[in-house]
Amino acid sequence: MSRGLFITLEGMDGAGKTTHLEWLRERLATTGMALTVTREPGGTALGETLREWMLHGGEPRQPDTEALLMFAARNEHIVRVIRPALEAGRCVLCDRFTDATYAYQSGGSGMLWARIAELEHWVQGDLHPDLTLYFDLAPEIGRARSRSAREPDRFEREQTAFFERVRAAYLRRAGEHPRRIRIIDASRSIEEIRKELEGIVQTIQSAKGSG
Ligand code: TMP
Repeated sequence: MSRGLFITLEGMDGAGKTTHLEWLRERLATTGMALTVTREPGGTALGETLREWMLHGGEPRQPDTEALLMFAARNEHIVRVIRPALEAGRCVLCDRFTDATYAYQSGGSGMLWARIAELEHWVQGDLHPDLTLYFDLAPEIGRARSRSAREPDRFEREQTAFFERVRAAYLRRAGEHPRRIRIIDASRSIEEIRKELEGIVQTIQSAKGSG
C-alpha cells in the first residue's frame, strides 16, 4: 500500500511559517489529497500540555530535559497520529518536528547534537519527513517582524545570539539532508515565496500522479 507524504515546516521566528502553512493547507486541499495538519509541540493531549510548559513554563530547565520531553511527546504523536495517517495514505503536514529539537535544544541551548541523534533513532526508527520546508530568515529581521502586541513566549525572549545559533543549526541540518530539506528564503515578499511553494505543490502532484 502506498504511504502518504510526510511534510514538515520549520522556520525562524517571524519567518511567516504559520501564514505559509495555512496557504499550503488550502492549496493541497484543492488537489484532493486527504490532509492531516498537526504541530509540535502539540498534536496530542500530552503534546499540547507540554507545549504550554515549553512556551510559558517559568521554571529553569535543562536543554536535555526539554529534548527528552519533546521526544516523549513525539513518540505519542507518531504512534497515535502520524503513522496511522501515513498508513491510511494521507498527507501529513506538521508544523515543526525533530529538526526543531536540533535547532533549539542543541543549536540554541547547547545540548549535544549526538544525543538528539540517539533519541531520533530510538523514537523514529526509519520514519523521517519526505520533505521539510525550512523558512530561513536572519534573526534581526524575524524579531522586527514578530514584535507584536502579545506577550513574548520563553523563546521569543531569548537574545539574538540564541537565534543565530538556532539558524546555524537549521542550516547544518539542511547541509546534512540536502534532498529532504528545502531552504526557502523568507526575506522575500509573500508573493515570491508563494510562487516557490506553488512550484513545490506541482512537483508533489506530478510525483503522486506518476507514483
Ligand atoms: P511555534 O510553533 O509557534 O513556532 O513555537 C514552538 C516553539 O517551540 C518554537 O520556539 C520552537 C520550540 N521547539 C523546541 O524548542 N523544540 C522542539 O523540538 C520543537 C518541536 C519546538
